[in-house]
Amino acid sequence: MEIFHVSAECYPMAKVGGLADVVGALPKYQSKAGHQVRVVVPCYDTKFKRENEFECVHWGNVKLGNFDFPFSVLKETTDQLGYELYLIEIKELFDRPNIYGYEDDIERFLSFQIATLDWITARETVPDVINCHDHHTGLIPFLVKYAYKYERLKNVKTVITIHNGLYQGWFGFDKLHYLPEFDLIHVGFLEWNTAINSLAVGIKCANAVTTVSPSYLDEINRSANGLEALFNQVRDKSKGILNGIDIEIWDPSKDQMIVENYSVETFGAGKQKNKEKLCEEFELDPSKPLFSFIGRLFEEKGGDLLPQASALALSENFESINILILGSGNPDIEAQLVQLRNDYKGYYNVFIGYNEELAHLIYAGSDFILMPSRVEPCGLNQLYALRYGTVPIVRRTGGLRDTVIDFGDDGNGICHDQASVGDICYSINRAVKLYADKSNFNKIIERGMQTDHSWERVCEEYIEIYNLIIQKNEV
Ligand code: GLC
Repeated sequence: MEIFHVSAECYPMAKVGGLADVVGALPKYQSKAGHQVRVVVPCYDTKFKRENEFECVHWGNVKLGNFDFPFSVLKETTDQLGYELYLIEIKELFDRPNIYGYEDDIERFLSFQIATLDWITARETVPDVINCHDHHTGLIPFLVKYAYKYERLKNVKTVITIHNGLYQGWFGFDKLHYLPEFDLIHVGFLEWNTAINSLAVGIKCANAVTTVSPSYLDEINRSANGLEALFNQVRDKSKGILNGIDIEIWDPSKDQMIVENYSVETFGAGKQKNKEKLCEEFELDPSKPLFSFIGRLFEEKGGDLLPQASALALSENFESINILILGSGNPDIEAQLVQLRNDYKGYYNVFIGYNEELAHLIYAGSDFILMPSRVEPCGLNQLYALRYGTVPIVRRTGGLRDTVIDFGDDGNGICHDQASVGDICYSINRAVKLYADKSNFNKIIERGMQTDHSWERVCEEYIEIYNLIIQKNEV
């Protein structure tokens, strides 16, 4: 089967969050299973782009109303990723260091989608499936079906995978003329709540909708930033598929980014060495349990709860726990977290920013990972943590609900229900007791390390959906 994944992010080319990890891994495993898989992302000015070799395989011009943007399609030539990676180079729009956050993001991602389809239409073969990811690629299912110039792709099946339904890519009908021409009889597909809503368009027009966990699919039927009714309508073509993790990259027995490798047989000594290194770097106490947080500091992730929860937990467990935070986001939260350093020197620290290498060391060297998310479509950190023998402490939501079971129910982690300071501290206190009960603690770690979250199984579920929509052959 010939499959295209189109996305705003793909690790290692461009990463902001988990979307990149998924789009960097799922295609690799689909390729291994014998499919021809190609990933298309915009050509940002990233380290990966600067350090790798590319050849130009196509060029053209995107027309966006009165604007004209020349574009090239660059193919990565080292072929070490396990799938074919293509970059859409539109210098004026993407030759910038950041992935999102520009005033012209609508124009940027519209051009990206149009250039991608212009190129796919011009290729010799027509793919079987285009798998779109999130709102940045949400117009593709519509354009494939209805834009005159993509007539050749009319029968290509499309899937939209939702990694985060909060962001939807709205824009006004004043920009309707940016889209390639189509029969206006179909204009209704573009509209949701008086605007063009890219995610809603994808959900309406794709042959199948997937979310990155089954629980998240249930939740967005009740709460989806205004799209609840739409999700209810498309229930029949929707499926929640839990993400996997790339077990070749995330393997504590081989990971080059940590100081001591270990397996489920040797995690005791192995994790301790990593913890010592981490504690040395951040002036923490390696003889005390270490709780860490890795992620974006936003309300969605419960980031706003962290300063107060950390302060309370550190004062209730004075000098007997450590907390380490790695993340960036809301400047207010960042400032509060930095401020806390003064009060709990030796037991608390924070690194504002993101650093892939440090993240690996934190998974390896921590005892517990905190994920107090309000919304978590899947969550990958808990899966990385489990694999590295770090016990996740999570709020039961979305993918966290599907992957972490409380140790009180013979599970692999610690769970609470409310996104509140009280619930987080309650869980931390339970964790402190668990940490002291070494044999029980080790049993839970072992259970976590042995869980299989590899992509092999998951990637089959995607293929089943592709097969299903190809067989159905609905227009
Ligand atoms: C988004 C979601 C996260 C999910 C990831 C990959 O970042 O917030 O929960 O794991 O996408 O699908």
